[in-house]
Amino acid sequence: MMKVTLPKLKNKKGNEKIAMVTCYDATFARLVEKAGIDSILVGDSLGMVIKGEENTLNVSLDEVAHHVSAVKRGATNPFLIADMPFGSYQSSVEQGIESAVKLIKAGAEAVKVEGGSEVSPLISKLVSFGIPVVAHVGLTPQYVNEFGGFARRGKSEKERKFIMDSALAVEKAGADMIVLEGIPKTLAAEITKKVKIPTIGIGAGTDTDGQVLVIYDLLGMNADFNPSFLKKYLDLDSLVTKALEEYKKDVVDGK
Ligand code: KIV
Repeated sequence: MMKVTLPKLKNKKGNEKIAMVTCYDATFARLVEKAGIDSILVGDSLGMVIKGEENTLNVSLDEVAHHVSAVKRGATNPFLIADMPFGSYQSSVEQGIESAVKLIKAGAEAVKVEGGSEVSPLISKLVSFGIPVVAHVGLTPQYVNEFGGFARRGKSEKERKFIMDSALAVEKAGADMIVLEGIPKTLAAEITKKVKIPTIGIGAGTDTDGQVLVIYDLLGMNADFNPSFLKKYLDLDSLVTKALEEYKKDVVDGK
């Protein structure tokens, strides 16, 4: 597999769909690379799937940087994106630049920020310094307290307009790609048609320019997590449990 660069990813729009997964460690990163996945996101979802927290709000910049360097050691070809965690860019544009620089130094090739016009000044500044930015609109998990949970967004006309305006604002600010999370397929299709940068969907239908899934979700590592958009490509929950049970039996039997 050849190195996937940002220009190569952007050129895929309208030609070939982009496959992205989240990843947090070197062991999985090696397999992601072997499978020819285009891009890895070290998501702040690590707060939930690695740390076992209820949401993403307690993830620190140091934690994301730590996982970025681990992933980097496992895979070099997929385009590596790091999430800017909650609290690492909300205080000021300067704070956001410092945080992004730290993630780039850890090995990321782009950073991801949640929001629309409120993050536009930061996006413009980052791209002016050569730091590619992936924006994230729709169901933005860092707004969980405002939304009152992780329910899908874009149900009302007002919300649809807000999400469309956010997508247009981040594109205008210079974002290189946009994650569209938890929004109606029709809205995702409309945004994808309107913007010139690639859209990467999660729970946003099949009409986006690419898809992203949390790696543990697509591998079926949690039998109790079954959102309607999720296709599980493996049932690792039962496979791993069964393997561990067999291992335990062998140990107990003195084998
Ligand atoms: O943190 C994350 O993993 C994400 C993806 C689900 C898009 O933001």
